[in-house]
Amino acid sequence: MTDPRHGGIAVLDYGSQYTQLIARRVREQGVYAEVFPYNAAPAQINQHEPRGYILSGGPNSVYDPGAPQLSAALQDGHAPVLGICYGMQALTHALGGAVAGSLKREYGSAQITQTLASPLFRDLAHTQTVWMSHGDRIESPPPGFTALAASDNSPYAAIGDTARGLYGVQFHPEVAHTPQGRQLLRNFVFNVCNCAPNWSPGAFIEDAVAAIRARVGGERVLLALSGGVDSAVTGALLQQAIGDQLVAVFVNNGLLRLGEAESVVRIFGAERGMNLVAVDATETFLSALDGITDPEQKRKIIGKAFIDTFAAEARRRDDIAFLAQGTIYPDVIESAASSGQSRVIKSHHNVGGLPDDLHFQLVEPLRDLFKDEVRRVGTELGLPDSIVWRQPFPGPGLAVRCLGAITWERLETLRAADAIFLEVLEREGLLRNATAQSFAVLLPVRSVGVMGDNRTYEEAVALRAVATDDFMTADWVRLPYDLLAEVSRRIVNEVPGVNRVTYDITSKPPGTIEWE
Ligand code: XMP
Repeated sequence: MTDPRHGGIAVLDYGSQYTQLIARRVREQGVYAEVFPYNAAPAQINQHEPRGYILSGGPNSVYDPGAPQLSAALQDGHAPVLGICYGMQALTHALGGAVAGSLKREYGSAQITQTLASPLFRDLAHTQTVWMSHGDRIESPPPGFTALAASDNSPYAAIGDTARGLYGVQFHPEVAHTPQGRQLLRNFVFNVCNCAPNWSPGAFIEDAVAAIRARVGGERVLLALSGGVDSAVTGALLQQAIGDQLVAVFVNNGLLRLGEAESVVRIFGAERGMNLVAVDATETFLSALDGITDPEQKRKIIGKAFIDTFAAEARRRDDIAFLAQGTIYPDVIESAASSGQSRVIKSHHNVGGLPDDLHFQLVEPLRDLFKDEVRRVGTELGLPDSIVWRQPFPGPGLAVRCLGAITWERLETLRAADAIFLEVLEREGLLRNATAQSFAVLLPVRSVGVMGDNRTYEEAVALRAVATDDFMTADWVRLPYDLLAEVSRRIVNEVPGVNRVTYDITSKPPGTIEWE
């Protein structure tokens, strides 16, 4: 069996905000792509024998002192290269062309027109809209290169040396604002690099199962199963690889949504027959949180209670050698970026701080996957949509949505209101498609109301539904008024103790997604 990571594309990062997107676009074509710092050791860049390289954009000018230059891994010209924006300038500079500061900065949409047919532009329109974002531009291409496309601002919007498979584009084919960009990257991957579409969920699973078995042997592996997508897919993959050698620990902290703990136990325990240890630690968590209202204190207490509970389960068994974590590729890339060039593992926050007496080797079977790939692997492994498409849920759970003091009664009120909101969104097909995160928040205020002939004085609920790609910025979703009316009516009628419902219309920034 060949490793499906072999024969793909190495993406060299020159500091662009779009570098991860380049790798994702390539993988969408069924070809493995991996991101490396531009100056990583050639042996590391070439470990999976890439058939071609893509150089990202970046904030520098090639003539800046200390500006990032062309990687030694591709100086000998043995494989095709596509330089994007700064990557094109670094390529040009290294191969003997000239780069100069442009009189006009080009930022935003532009039109380019092909000036010479090439494999890179096969099947693309003669004139197309692209996304530009650069100051410098190519003054003269390196020997052997010719212009392939021109814009108003430059005769060298794209250049290439078809014989050697070397190309540069001044625009960004990886962003959605370049409508034909996907096809251009597809052309590079298949027409120029001759990659084969080996990268599929099925191929990944086969390879990962073999790798896990080889690594783990006959030992046991411990996993903290939270019910979230990453730990669920990690668990399903490990189960396929090593069956009952996997010991999955699910800690019910009493801060989960309605029916969530039961569904984790049913899906993984009863239906999939996983070796699952379900610990009901509700009492421990709630008594530790008694009277606590400060959000950061809540987080600290919950983090510690989780580690204590999980460590106690781990100590119960002395036959475990490995700890599995649901680390995914963006975590790996981020920690590499934040720690200079070395690739350091970011420990998963839930199990990051295990006590010193517990020593495990790490297994991280998803560390090469983007989130959308994790979902596709989950589906391929037979996990239900309710798990695979679950919205992110914060580690401290409902504690940071139950504002003020946390009691079992208030949690039950919040669970009931939240379940009504999610049920209506799901019924209208809005849960998975229109909202990235949607939930109810129980506020620490009472308000006056009237029900029948009686005056009421009860708690208020806020509904929050946001759309976001990266959770760094977010906008509130313009839900239909009739839907909000139905949810409000049902919450006030069906949930004892709540007499008022509001909808949160704050974007992030300045608001955050959670209320605490
Ligand atoms: P904010 O509220 O900062 O949330 O806009 C951004 C994303 O992070 C999640 N979040 C957390 N996740 N532990 C977690 O595991 C936490 O303490 C925590 N706080 C916020 C939040 O749900 C959103 O997806």
